[in-house]
Order: sequence, then structure tokens, then C-alpha cells
Amino acid sequence: MATSGQKEPIHVVITGAAGQIAYSLVYQICNGEVFGKDQPLILHLLDITPMLGVLQGLVMEIDDCSIPLVKGVVTTDNEEQAFKDADAVFLVGAMPRKEGMERKDLLTANVKIFKSQGTAIDKFAKKTVKILVVGNPANTNCLILAHFAPSIPRENFSCLTRLDHNRAKAQIASRLKVSPDAVKNVIIWGNHSATQFPDVRSATVNVNGTDTPVYDAIKDDQWLKSDFISIVQKRGAAVIAARKLSSAMSAAKASCDHMRDWWQGTKENEWVSMGVVSDGSYGVEKGLVYSYPVHIKNGRYSIVQGLPVDDWARELLDKTQKELLEEKTDALKATSSE
Ligand code: NAD
Ligand code: LMR
Repeated sequence: MATSGQKEPIHVVITGAAGQIAYSLVYQICNGEVFGKDQPLILHLLDITPMLGVLQGLVMEIDDCSIPLVKGVVTTDNEEQAFKDADAVFLVGAMPRKEGMERKDLLTANVKIFKSQGTAIDKFAKKTVKILVVGNPANTNCLILAHFAPSIPRENFSCLTRLDHNRAKAQIASRLKVSPDAVKNVIIWGNHSATQFPDVRSATVNVNGTDTPVYDAIKDDQWLKSDFISIVQKRGAAVIAARKLSSAMSAAKASCDHMRDWWQGTKENEWVSMGVVSDGSYGVEKGLVYSYPVHIKNGRYSIVQGLPVDDWARELLDKTQKELLEEKTDALKATSSE
């Protein structure tokens, strides 16, 4: 705490700050929706050199928003300056996919960025830094980042699957004609890709004050086990086909949800989905960045244990793990061939 009673500012980094996700992200962060309405911050905005002019325009807009929590803005193309003393990092800067591509097609181009930024975070960020990888392929970029930042605790790395989590909630809510906040405890397992497993076997929906299992409320197991899963798995591609650009507003909102819950905690008996470094839970290889249901308290997440895994679920958990193992091999090859 500063002597005035105000909290000391924290250092918050956004990479890809001149891009479309960052444009939706910056205001929510500056306005206290992630770190709290009483938490001042200094923003560090990183992008590549040709985008520095665009960043100046963004700074003018941040100034014009007149937000008291913003105590300073650093714009830079230099990783040391960007990650110096970082408390929280949103790694958005990476190439987005175009129509017809899978996210893993971005591996060769994007993995180099995460090798370089991992090395810089290792040297310059606080050891307590909380890191969220958004740039695709998010799980494997996060794995590479962690690999090149060995001095940062493994539990400080994460990647974004909250967008898929929010999409799953929205699909269930729309089917039942209820508000999305009535739906809780959906799970995204595995990769942020078309092999992810959106799972509502433990999810509930609150109708007239009573929590009912989603399977009982929807009463259509066939839809829940096929169309629902496929809609969520392919939602990113559907947005690209319609917008000719990948999702940005919803990705920024999900990034804020993810970091807010990590910073401030989840509700009792509720969980959210986060890509985290696996500790071997649910038969997943230790060290892979895999999306799990997590509960968060005092800034630390714990993977929800003991959820049922039948043969059908096991097959889906393994399929998405297999893709992550293949991505890991390709990514490590790409970083060593430079
Ligand atoms: P964008 O092209 O609008 O912006 C990307 C920005 O990153 C650009 O300004 C670019 O100059 C910058 N950049 C490139 N290399 C950089 C580097 N080395 N350091 C810093 N900045 C760098 O893209 P976008 O729509 O904002 O998407 C960004 C990434 O997020 C893409 O990879 C996209 O696929 C991914 N994404 C992930 C999710 C998710 O749920 N995990 C959701 C949506 C998008
Ligand atoms: C998304 O899920 O919308 C993003 O990962 C962008 C994409 O490539 O689908």
C-alpha cells in the first residue's frame, strides 16, 4: 500500500497491443474490470516496430478516456522494456488464422515469438507474474513460453480456453432460453482447437432457484453429445467465415474473465476452464498445457479432481491430448531449427 492508502500500481503487459483483440481489451483492463476498481496500474504495450505509430493513437485514446486508475502507459517494441517488473501479462501478439486454416497451421510463424518472449519474461518479469497466452495455437505457444522461462513457477502460466467455456455456456443458455449466468460448471478439456472436449456432464442450470443437471433440463443426449460439441469446437471458424476476421470482442471479454477470476477468485462450488501446465491429472502427460476445470482462491488455481470419466469421455480426453503431443513435437522442432 502507498502511504495515501491507495494501492501501489501494478505493471500490466499487453502484447499485440496494436491489434484487434487488444483494442477491445485495453479499456476493460484500465477501467478496473480485471484487477479491481481500487487497483491502479501502469500499462506496458508491446508491438512490432512498424506498429509504434498506431500505439501512439491508442495512447491518445487511453488519455481521452480519462481513467483515474491508469498511472502510466509505456509503448515499446522492446521485450526488456515491455516485461520489466511485470505483474500480469496478456500475450496476444501473434498472427491470426484465416478462413480454411486450423490454428496449428500458425505454429511455425508464432512459436518463435513465444520462444523470444519466454526468454525475456524469464529475465525481466517478477517471479510472481501471472501469464495468459491468447495468441494461437494458444496451448502450444504457452508450452514453448514456459519451456524458455524456467525460473518462473509452472503454475504462473496459462492459456485462454475461457472463450470456448463462454461459448458452451451461451449455447446451453440459448437452447434452454435462460440467461447464460444460470448455467454453471461447464468444462472445456484439452486443446483450444477443433479437438477440444466441451463437457456438460457435471454442468447445472438454475431454473426458479433450483440447480438442475443440464442433461436433465435439455433431455436430448444426442444433441449434447454431437451437435453441441461440434458447434463449440467450430465456433471460431464460423466467426472467421462470417467476419473475415477472427473473433476479437469475445476473445477480449474472455481474456478479462480469465485474468479477473485468477486474480480475484471463483465463487464457492463453481469452476471455470483454464489451459494450465498439467500435473498429470486425468491421465494427461505432465507438462502439456491442457485445459481443465479449475477452482481459484487467493490467486492460486487448483484443478477440480474426481470428476467422472467414462469410456466416451476418455476417448475425447485422449484425442485432444494426442493433438497436443503432436503440436509439442512440431513446436520444439521449430524452435530448435532456428
Ligand atoms: P491482429 O492481427 O489484429 O493483432 C496481432 C498484433 O500482434 C498485431 O498488431 C501485430 O503487429 C502484433 N505482433 C506480431 N508479432 C508480434 C511480436 N513479436 N510482439 C508483439 N506484437 C506482435 O490479431 P488479433 O485478432 O488481435 O489476434 C491475436 C492472436 O490471438 C491470434 O493469434 C489469434 O488467432 C488469437 N486468438 C486467440 C483466441 C483464443 O481464444 N485463445 C481467440 C481469438 C484470437
Ligand atoms: C477463436 O476461437 O475465435 C480464436 O481462436 C480465433 C480462431 O482462429 O478461431
